[in-house]
Amino acid sequence: MSRQKAEGKFLQTLAGTRFPTPPIWLMRQAGRYLPEYRAVRATTKSFLEFCYTPDKAIEVTLQPIRRFGFDAAIIFSDILVVPDALGQKVWFEEGEGPKLEALTDPSQFGRLSRARIADHLAPVYEAIRQTRAALPPETALLGFAGAPFTLACYMIEGSGSKDFAKVKTWAYSHPESFGLLIDLLVEAVVDHLAYQVEAGVNGVQLFDSWAGVLPEEQLFHWSLDPMMRIAKGLRERHPEVPIIAFPRAVGPAMLMYRRPDTFSALSIDTGIGAHWAAKELQPHICLQGNLDPIMLVAGGQAMEREAMRILDKLGHGPFVFNLGHGVVPQTPPDNVAHLVEIVRNWKPGAP
Ligand code: CP3
Repeated sequence: MSRQKAEGKFLQTLAGTRFPTPPIWLMRQAGRYLPEYRAVRATTKSFLEFCYTPDKAIEVTLQPIRRFGFDAAIIFSDILVVPDALGQKVWFEEGEGPKLEALTDPSQFGRLSRARIADHLAPVYEAIRQTRAALPPETALLGFAGAPFTLACYMIEGSGSKDFAKVKTWAYSHPESFGLLIDLLVEAVVDHLAYQVEAGVNGVQLFDSWAGVLPEEQLFHWSLDPMMRIAKGLRERHPEVPIIAFPRAVGPAMLMYRRPDTFSALSIDTGIGAHWAAKELQPHICLQGNLDPIMLVAGGQAMEREAMRILDKLGHGPFVFNLGHGVVPQTPPDNVAHLVEIVRNWKPGAP
């Protein structure tokens, strides 16, 4: 299987090349803020069925590339396709987000099986194959997965949560059985990412969206260590693949994730100061981030000032411009076009 060589600004930036202006893509760049997404989305009721229809997933992956010319596309899918493929019941309720038949007891782990991943997620891999062929060679295609802790959050809570009390109570009271679930998810995520690479993605991002609900002493065990085991497992199968880690809302504990031998880049959330990140993280590892998604809703001069501040702090080092979290549905698409212009017209001054 020949993977594309590091072509284009995004992949070359991850490989250490510097350009006058950084590459840009946005988390959740495909989604409800785009009228053309809503039009395709309206043709399928079930969100998972939508994810598993290659023609539709391909189309909505390409939409933001056509409109904004981002340096990377991210395959349209969801982190919850992994619990679905493992055999847990997953569905999406309109206006409410994801629902799962919650795990309440370790005796239920036996129902989850990695053996189904390749078949169940074959439409995702087919969408990747065709999307890679349809993209311009200089546009990278990213695959992704949820990190084990974030997946466990949804699998045990059965939905999103304000405080994640159920999953945390389980992790604190019964670390051995919680560890079994995390181990199963490490293996499942390695499989899912390896299949995505084999189908043609040029890099992957691991979303640990809920890492920040853990106290610092628990972070290594339940967030960082599983992510490192995934990176090791994936690199055994695909030694060259770039891996971006996004442990969201962990604050200065981000220092623990500063591991250039394991991760190609760290995606920083909005709560991380650009000045601190430039000093403490960027000398060691490529960064990605971290405009507040709500700045993209506000637009105008407020957004311009904040984007310039981030560029002036981080644009001199290895850097990929992105948001601190995903694009929200109320974002005016014109503000996204304006942001791309700001980033592409930035003139680096003295660092
Ligand atoms: O453009 C892209 O970024 C690619 C597609 C993508 C989706 N979800 C599509 C989606 C990606 C990378 C994700 C990741 C994801 N999914 C995460 C990690 C990133 C993060 O936001 O922290 C998480 C936690 C999920 C779980 C999930 N999926 C939730 C909580 C929701 C409901 C929230 C919402 O916006 O409705 C989803 C549904 C979902 N996934 C939508 C999209 C575009 C919206 C559903 C729709 O269009 O009907």
